[in-house]
Amino acid sequence: MGDKRPVGFFDSGIGGTCILRAFRELCPNERTIYLADSENCPYGNRSADEIVRLSEKNTAELLAKGCKMIVVACNTATAAAIDVLRREHPDVPFIGLEPAVKPAALKSRTGVVAVLATKGTFNGRLYNETRRKFAKNVTVIAAVADEFVAEVERLGGFPVAELEGARLARLEKIVRAKIEPLVAAGADHIVLGCTHFPHLKHLIEKVAGPRVSVVDPSPAVALQARRVLEERGLLA
Ligand code: DGL
Repeated sequence: MGDKRPVGFFDSGIGGTCILRAFRELCPNERTIYLADSENCPYGNRSADEIVRLSEKNTAELLAKGCKMIVVACNTATAAAIDVLRREHPDVPFIGLEPAVKPAALKSRTGVVAVLATKGTFNGRLYNETRRKFAKNVTVIAAVADEFVAEVERLGGFPVAELEGARLARLEKIVRAKIEPLVAAGADHIVLGCTHFPHLKHLIEKVAGPRVSVVDPSPAVALQARRVLEERGLLA
């Protein structure tokens, strides 16, 4: 008999649905609950204390609905709150997100990688430790892209690949303004360090061109979530 309880996911808004989608493809038998804290979006510029408080509230809501595991589908919330959440709920497995600096640094040919994330993520311990450990020999360009968060919320789940006309032109201009300087600085990897950004991947890849790899963590996080369920005997 499998464990039929749902897996809970939360983010400041709809960004983390890219993780949810990857997880559901990998684990079609699992039930899932996704909490989008749209009322408090964005998290990126809030203080760490505020993000901890919001993450505690989201976690409590998901646990009250009987979730067996929580995926913090938000880099910013992971940076500020995952240590606290794990301490407060020692019996609950938590899966978090941090920018995939390590694989990008290992694969870079130009020795320059760019990371797109929020201020909160760049201030966090996880990002800075990983960067120190694994990206010593490469130049890491940290680019805050809060405007992308707002644009993804505005899209409301509409696929960017299907945008046309003035809406496409407007969004492409915003993406170009952020991405072109990174490519001009020699970056051959662009790490999507915020779960809102995979929703713009199609456009980011188009603007960055074929020589740049855009690193989307969603499949790796989904795999990690399944691994933890398996290890703990929690699979449905
Ligand atoms: N999607 C989030 C992240 O991964 C947060 C974006 C925001 O609310 O600023 O960082």
